[in-house]
Amino acid sequence: MKDVEVKIKIRECQMDELSDIDRAMVSMAIEATASSYAPYSHFNVGAAILLADDSIIKGCNQENAAFPAGICAERSAIFAAGVQHPDQAVRVLAIAARNRSDELTEEPISPCGTCRQVMIETEKRFGLPIHILLYGQKRIYMMDGTENLMPLSFSDF
Ligand code: THU
Repeated sequence: MKDVEVKIKIRECQMDELSDIDRAMVSMAIEATASSYAPYSHFNVGAAILLADDSIIKGCNQENAAFPAGICAERSAIFAAGVQHPDQAVRVLAIAARNRSDELTEEPISPCGTCRQVMIETEKRFGLPIHILLYGQKRIYMMDGTENLMPLSFSDF
């Protein structure tokens, strides 16, 4: 028997340390929180995706009284990209959220397990690691590739 240590690599940074593209993507994720429909949780999440052909797709969480019919911001953006640009890889995914007081979260918003699984499959499908940006007022987490978000993920092959 032995202990196995699994390492992930995350970079912590501030808005002014981001590249112009990354800063624009984070700003668009913040903008997308305004379209969120979250009358139940009052937690408004926004996502912005940059595709290989430079198209930008936004997403936000959409809730429903018949829980769990709603969807998270990340999946709404990834699935919208899949509909509108089915052959384009996802290069960048930025996420931001506003809390019940309508303030941007202080700490980085982190995707739920289901969204992580969808992000993993999107990477596999296009063979390109996704550059991920998780916004928080105090810090932004940046990582390259979903293995740095969800190690030991499920795979059926
Ligand atoms: N939510 C997202 O949109 N993305 C996440 O990464 C976490 C959670 C949504 C789902 C639900 O509408 C609300 O936030 C509260 O959980």
